[in-house]
Amino acid sequence: MVIEKKDITETVNNMNMPKHIAIIMDGNGRWAKKKLMPRTMGHRAGMSALKRIVQACVKLNLPVLTVFAFSTENWKRPKDEVDYLMKILVEFVNKELTELHEQNIRINVLGDYYCLPRQCQDAIDKALILTTNNTGMIFNIALNYGARAEIIKAVREIAVLVKEEKVLPKDIDESFFSNFLFTREMPDPDLLIRTAGEMRISNFLLWQIAYSELWITDKLWPDFSEEDLLQAIRDYQRRERRFGGLILDKEGDNNA
Ligand code: IPE
Ligand code: IPE
Ligand code: MG
Repeated sequence: MVIEKKDITETVNNMNMPKHIAIIMDGNGRWAKKKLMPRTMGHRAGMSALKRIVQACVKLNLPVLTVFAFSTENWKRPKDEVDYLMKILVEFVNKELTELHEQNIRINVLGDYYCLPRQCQDAIDKALILTTNNTGMIFNIALNYGARAEIIKAVREIAVLVKEEKVLPKDIDESFFSNFLFTREMPDPDLLIRTAGEMRISNFLLWQIAYSELWITDKLWPDFSEEDLLQAIRDYQRRERRFGGLILDKEGDNNA
């Protein structure tokens, strides 16, 4: 008897899907340590997990996926580890680009990638140019990304416009400000997933996650599966998002 693999979209409520999922892919080093391997092997296994999760998100028709690949603070790590991370990033882009493009995915980088090694810049430029007109899932890779640096960059750009009298201070509102962030014109993340159990944000998308639902698992990133992603989405779908307001029942009473 052939048992057909259940379509993953059947296990979640299609009417209440997140539009944007952001993931802090953490725990590669611990995964390797547990297996008595060098940390670099954890990063390699992390790349396979990333491939798996991108594919799952495509199947789910997710509009935007953002992954934290390298933070502005990760430069503090030993040079060998940083070099390896850059190397597998180039490898990932080069190996997966054709398939990502065929799937109509638009690749986008959050962060200033012009201070990365030449080979990384070239691989990224190639990916951005090839996929720029794609209309499917937006795949944001946060690379050399730090939310504070992103906010400061926005403030500087706006300050120049004010100085040149192109913008009045009173016209700077939330939606205006958002247009100066790397995520301009994208919905804010509905769901923020962090693997490897740390209860912190680590300078990721500070502005954009103001009302994101947080979902943290002890699973280490290389072990994170499609089923874990679905579990996160199912849990998200059970949450009541209030955005500071109240949920009123038919009689107008609040349900709290
Ligand atoms: C996440 O895994 C990958 C990056 C930060 C680049 P870590 O390398 O932080 O893994 P742990 O936290 O040491 O286990
Ligand atoms: C966050 O993980 C950055 C990425 C996943 C790229 P870290 O491992 O750098 O975070 P901390 O140091 O535990 O806060
Ligand atoms: Mg970590």
